[in-house]
Amino acid sequence: MACAIDSGRLWDSLMEMAAVGATPAGGVRRLALSDEDRAARDLLVRWLADAHCAVRVDDLGNIYGHRGGEQPGAAPLVCGSHLDTVPTGGRFDGALGVLAALEAVRALNDARQRMRHPMEVVCWTNEEGARFPPAMLASGVVCGQLTLDAAYAARDARGLTFGDELRRIGYQGSAEHRLPAPAAYVELHVEQGPILERTRTQIGIVEGVEGISWSWVAVAGRASHAGPTPMEDRRDALLAASRIVSALRTLAGEAPGVRTTAGHIEVTPNTINVVPGAARLSADLRARSEDLLETAWHRLQEICAAIAKEDSVAIQVDEFWHSNPTPFHHAVVETVAESARALGYSSRRMWAGAGHDAKYVADRYPAGMIFVPSRDGLSHNEAEWTPREDCARGAAVLLAAMQRLDRML
Ligand code: HGY
Ligand code: MN
Ligand code: MN
Repeated sequence: MACAIDSGRLWDSLMEMAAVGATPAGGVRRLALSDEDRAARDLLVRWLADAHCAVRVDDLGNIYGHRGGEQPGAAPLVCGSHLDTVPTGGRFDGALGVLAALEAVRALNDARQRMRHPMEVVCWTNEEGARFPPAMLASGVVCGQLTLDAAYAARDARGLTFGDELRRIGYQGSAEHRLPAPAAYVELHVEQGPILERTRTQIGIVEGVEGISWSWVAVAGRASHAGPTPMEDRRDALLAASRIVSALRTLAGEAPGVRTTAGHIEVTPNTINVVPGAARLSADLRARSEDLLETAWHRLQEICAAIAKEDSVAIQVDEFWHSNPTPFHHAVVETVAESARALGYSSRRMWAGAGHDAKYVADRYPAGMIFVPSRDGLSHNEAEWTPREDCARGAAVLLAAMQRLDRML
């Protein structure tokens, strides 16, 4: 029997998963290690068991569904992504990669097809880093780039730790269940940008993941009365912070290929009649080359030093996460390209501007990614959408790539 993706089954699973943490605006809010995340995990574990996978959980809460192969001792072919979202997330970011991997297993089961290699579906914990910064935390620990202690100590805005929350939702497994060295890893993901849609291309053949730098910028001024304090006497932390935000935008214009975002800001005391005494903002820098990323970060430092002097405030820039750019494995990239071509899909090569767990996997093992279009290039937005046929095409390329790699490796 031919082995083929069942697009209806994939879509139904996507929509059922999207109902977990659904928001009134049609998006999804499933913060890592929240009750919604636990419900999504429980649903995935049930589906993996229904697909006759052996399910295990590691000490970061990563979930693995193992499908045996004809050569049980062979390194597994792994595919998957994440189920956690940003606070105003969409239905497809992460979930498509996990559920397409599950659909590939279901299709192989339907066709009674045994692969030579074992296959593993993986769901990574806390890819977003929205609740517990930094991003890709669990895959970073498993691939040796971050420490378990640092992961367990990561705190959310309410001061709850990753470790406590992982235990609370009942998903603290054990270290020996971590990802075994894979023969290859492939992750399907929505593009989260406008290129595929704008160029009317069906599949993105992802050649690598761009570099990311995350910093907290703390501004210390002096709280004072909004009335009697003369303008020239003020040490206004929010004014200085707002100048940093606009300087970040200018920085992006100065260095082609660098993208900058100030997504988070706090003001103290945040009161209508008090000149702000303190502010804290985030700085997210992205670039394809390490040089560009380093240059952008040093430029940020210069900008802050100049504003501190002009506004008589103290500014501290703390880079707490640096993820260098990672190219994907040539053989995996070409396998994805051949799979798309054999299926008759249009495709183009591109790099990922977003971070993905595949980055950390690719730092150690042969890995690659597949993109499908995002409507209006939108993601990290409740209106995120990828049509059913595009989801099915992406899953078909994933399945074909797994089968090719199975024959090749
Ligand atoms: O921030 C990122 O690029 C990813 O969505 N976590
Ligand atoms: Mn994602
Ligand atoms: Mn995301």
